[in-house]
Amino acid sequence: AKITYVEHNGTEHTVEVANGMTVMEGARDNNIPGIEGDCGGACACSTCHVYVDPAWVEKIPAKDDMEEDMLDFAFEPNPATSRLTCQIKVTDAMDGLVVKMPEKQI
Ligand code: FES
Repeated sequence: AKITYVEHNGTEHTVEVANGMTVMEGARDNNIPGIEGDCGGACACSTCHVYVDPAWVEKIPAKDDMEEDMLDFAFEPNPATSRLTCQIKVTDAMDGLVVKMPEKQI
């Protein structure tokens, strides 16, 4: 699926991310700045935090309790749109997904 990552400064990166990869891995593998993923995707660091475009929030699988708890440690999480990108697995249905990076990762 084509995913657009928008840096905090507005710079956009649209890349193809394979099904089964996570949105965090898509950023990391394409050297897109703004998503760190320090824990490697174990939902244990919150440095892969993004704000999902409001139009997409309902279209991607909901966060589980572990993600919800870890988001409390992210920088300025928004209860409505914040997600940890290592917990979002890419599918065809996510073609066109837009995520925005926070000002910083913790
Ligand atoms: Fe650590 Fe997502 S990469 S919580």
